[in-house]
Amino acid sequence: MDKQKRKAIVAGNWKMNMTRPEAGELIKAIRPLVSAAECEVVVCVPFTDLDAAAKALKGSEIRLGAQNCHWEPSGAYTGEISVPMLRELGAEYVIVGHSERRQYFGETDQTANRRLRAALFGGLKAILCVGETLSQREANDTNDVIARQVTEGLREVPAGRLGDVVIAYEPVWAIGTGKTATAEEAGQACAFIRGLLAGICGDEETACGVTIQYGGSMNPKNAAQLLAQYDIDGGLIGGASLKAADFAAIVEAASK
Ligand code: 13P
Repeated sequence: MDKQKRKAIVAGNWKMNMTRPEAGELIKAIRPLVSAAECEVVVCVPFTDLDAAAKALKGSEIRLGAQNCHWEPSGAYTGEISVPMLRELGAEYVIVGHSERRQYFGETDQTANRRLRAALFGGLKAILCVGETLSQREANDTNDVIARQVTEGLREVPAGRLGDVVIAYEPVWAIGTGKTATAEEAGQACAFIRGLLAGICGDEETACGVTIQYGGSMNPKNAAQLLAQYDIDGGLIGGASLKAADFAAIVEAASK
């Protein structure tokens, strides 16, 4: 399958930003700017914004996502949010294994995998985040780290379900730092991930169909170059997704 046939997805990861009124305002500003998008557009909002965001998105093509989920459907897990809860609020996507969750909240490949499987079997699409830290890159461990994160993250996921999985390659050193991987570095890592997917599912055609995003200081200036890479099919956008014009400019770059 060639790049043109794969689904490009630009997703905003709002992280811990935006109160409900602010979320409504931001979505109101984004909607008209991305109405002609030729890629899929997703906003992954804080749990507390999901309801307001779903209402603000009514009638638009923009999809709603969350930033985490628990693997059990319900139970004594204080502070956690389940997949059925997210679905009931209108979420279609959920991010799992983000590096900030790995760094600050004890997320491991195993817990990311449990969340991902719960999401898929509960009817959500999952964006699995992978990527190396600066010290791992400097030690030439990038491929080993990514291989482990992808393989463990997708453990026990049947190949037939990979259509509901998006992989986001987010080098940790490029997140929120203004440092972007060069287009070539990012493209190489994403190509490596596609090769891993082919090995995992034993089927090149399926691997070729999976959307792989780049994330890490993507902005209107660098988006086109990153998105032109053969194996980069969209972006997971942090800071720039909080500014309607910047987010829309990235969506436009992905629509070409
Ligand atoms: P920035 O775009 O702010 O670097 O964040 C990227 C990210 O972590 C998206 O999940």
